[in-house]
Amino acid sequence: MRLIFLGPPGAGKGTQASKVSERWRIPHISTGDVFRAAVKEGNDVGRRVKGHLEGGGLVPDELVVEVLKQRLGQADCANGFVLDGFPRTVEQARALDELLQDRGETLDRALYFDLPGEVAVERLSGRRMCRSCGANYQVKYIPSKKEGRCDRCDGELYQRQDDQPETVRHRLRVYVEETAPVVDYYRKAQSLRDFRADASVEEIAEQVSRALEAVVPANRPQEEGH
Ligand code: AP5
Repeated sequence: MRLIFLGPPGAGKGTQASKVSERWRIPHISTGDVFRAAVKEGNDVGRRVKGHLEGGGLVPDELVVEVLKQRLGQADCANGFVLDGFPRTVEQARALDELLQDRGETLDRALYFDLPGEVAVERLSGRRMCRSCGANYQVKYIPSKKEGRCDRCDGELYQRQDDQPETVRHRLRVYVEETAPVVDYYRKAQSLRDFRADASVEEIAEQVSRALEAVVPANRPQEEGH
């Protein structure tokens, strides 16, 4: 199963991608997570992307495509993957087409999660992430049981620097200019499925599961979690 998850910042791409990854046993590849890990490690990629992430702008296509190519070359991607946050530009979408063609593979579905901008700002200003395991919470809608600590591993929860309201608004503008055309790209290719992202996590997960079961049935469904 080869999937891409599209949608504005805060649409819940990461939340839903991690459920699909567990259920279908395919790796969840978030380019945002890859870049944040590189910044934390302080490696060459991290130094090159840091300013883009902090300001809410896009990392240049050439670098993103190179990083993604390396990741898809790893053994765990042989049976599929769910890409979260890639492609972000039409140029990246074309590069992915070429990459898949070279691998003799095709994309099964592009899932588009649509969310009004004001809901995105509210969601993201309340997002909290676990420093240890990366679990994702929302102070109002998906709170952790103990304030400031992760339910899974008791790690410390923190707020992403680019989740400040002004930076979120900038990310939304970048999304409209650069990434909205990618939705049209996949709509024209007839591989797009639309989802309204302003429902509950469980309702959306149910709709996504139903849509994907029709493509490739999951062999052994896993427990639902954050
Ligand atoms: P990235 O990390 O990909 O950020 P994003 O696309 O802006 O997406 P988010 O992580 O903000 O939102 P999401 O849709 O995954 O929602 P989530 O599930 O977390 O990218 C960060 C940066 O990296 C970019 O700005 C750019 O600089 C760079 N970058 C990355 N990829 C790139 C690329 N391909 N090209 C160029 N640059 C790139 O949910 C959000 C919150 O809402 C959470 O708190 C969650 O708990 C909550 N929530 C989720 N679902 C629901 C629901 N149904 N109801 C209520 N709350 C919900």
